[in-house]
Amino acid sequence: MTEINQTDEWMALEQHWAEVEPLQMRDLFQQGPERAEQMSIRQCGIMLDYSKNRITTRSMNLLLALAQAVDVDGWRRRMFSGERLNITENRAVLHVALRNRSNHPVWFDGEDVMPGINAVLQKMEVFSEAVRSGEWKGYTGKPISNVVNIGIGGSNLGPLMVCEALKSYQKPGLNMHFVSNVDGSHIIDTLAGLDPETTLFIIASKTFTTQETLTNAHTARQWLLDELHDEQAVAHHFVAVSTNAEKVSEFGIDTANMFEFWDWVGGRYSLWSAVGLPIAIAVGMQSYYELLQGAHDMDEHFLHADLSENMPVIMALLGIWYVDFAKAHTHAILPYDQYLRYLPDYLQQADMESNGKRVTRFGRPVDYPTGPVIWGSAGTDGQHAYYQLIHQGTQLIPCDFIVPVNSQNETGDHHEKLFANCLAQSEALMRGKTRTEVREDMQQAGLEPEQIVDLLPHRIFPGNRPSNTLLLDKITPSRLGSLIALYEHKIFVQGIIWRVNSFDQWGVELGKQLAGVILPELMDELQVSPHDSSTRGLITYFHRHRKR
Ligand code: F6P
Repeated sequence: MTEINQTDEWMALEQHWAEVEPLQMRDLFQQGPERAEQMSIRQCGIMLDYSKNRITTRSMNLLLALAQAVDVDGWRRRMFSGERLNITENRAVLHVALRNRSNHPVWFDGEDVMPGINAVLQKMEVFSEAVRSGEWKGYTGKPISNVVNIGIGGSNLGPLMVCEALKSYQKPGLNMHFVSNVDGSHIIDTLAGLDPETTLFIIASKTFTTQETLTNAHTARQWLLDELHDEQAVAHHFVAVSTNAEKVSEFGIDTANMFEFWDWVGGRYSLWSAVGLPIAIAVGMQSYYELLQGAHDMDEHFLHADLSENMPVIMALLGIWYVDFAKAHTHAILPYDQYLRYLPDYLQQADMESNGKRVTRFGRPVDYPTGPVIWGSAGTDGQHAYYQLIHQGTQLIPCDFIVPVNSQNETGDHHEKLFANCLAQSEALMRGKTRTEVREDMQQAGLEPEQIVDLLPHRIFPGNRPSNTLLLDKITPSRLGSLIALYEHKIFVQGIIWRVNSFDQWGVELGKQLAGVILPELMDELQVSPHDSSTRGLITYFHRHRKR
């Protein structure tokens, strides 16, 4: 098979970038007053304006030809029909079934997975309602007022991000906490001030073998037993979410208190499974169903819409355009909503663990860039920190601005100010400020001619810096579901074009293995295994300075 960067479609895009590179977006806007209308799309309550990108109509056509050449259409159907797309682990990629609110059968290995999914949803509903209503009691008969989710990666970021995003939907008096880091400070800080009698722990781990999660879970268990002095208390205060019943049972959690999911749910796609239990407890099952519905609506759009009118496909192609043709190395996610502050972290895992790959599905090294570095934070804080580099640095950083039209906390004119800042940033990035404009400004401000000459180069903004703007009427459970699914499918399409397996993560294994070798050496000075002189020296330093 011809490598993707040797295809006619790819080479046409390379040539086309050379034509587009000198174009200024501000000129394109002037030449085509209907540009914004033509380059925006509305779907599932999300408005994507992608007109502030360094593209022409021809660019989009050439990008779409690339999508057709790799058969995005066929691949999307293969994912939804339960094919084992994760070839290195021989697994299907069926997180879309978890939010299949149409409830049509989804077949995998000759079995409809929907009854199993519905049974777990039902169990989540009963349990979350019992906790919320106070019917579920702790060991001493008190209702639960604090829920601590212990998990890491996909078993943390999804529920953490969604619970925060839907903060105003949370039940007052029921406080959600998330512990992920194996640094003892995380669990110690979280447990400080909590009462074991009214605390529920959810131990979330797909494999139930993750070192960080199990270490934190054991510490939490000990903390509970130190206060309640009875093993029987564990059943009232610990539940597990996992695919591994054996390990859950080994840990000492009754499998009756286990919420199941399946190996065809990738960790980074697991918030739609029982890993979403903290969400259900925090915002109620009705809102959780709405979240699933929003994602399902986006799934339907992605599966059925023509590629040229397909929101995830358009976002994926724009990303490819910058990474592979404009040679951008990073992509910023900039939500202008305080409650979306964990979205960049969430998308970091979703994108970088999926497409941070260096060989194709066929095992051949790629010689074109794949997944970019994903980063960002909630606006407006970043404006006073790193936006300087986005505006005037030497790197091209495509940005996604995400902003709701209505706030979850309306107060005075805060929201107008937030919104104005968001729009101002994308406009400034696109337009920049020319030499003439900067000079005029300084003349009007009464600066001396010599000062103007000195300051001029510093105050010019080159502009022409690309961004997407995503508007939502409000961050509701359903809109949020659609937004997350939008990014998931964007990442999927990019993986298809790059011809990588977006569903494994072998790259995290080596570090885990080596940590397993180093740990005994830190526990016991006499244990020594071969290392490079740097690692050896660092271990020696640890022993010398460690106060036990
Ligand atoms: O090490 C990476 C990873 O496997 C992620 O893919 C996953 O989300 C995370 O660890 C946690 O894994 P688990 O849910 O099995 O504890």
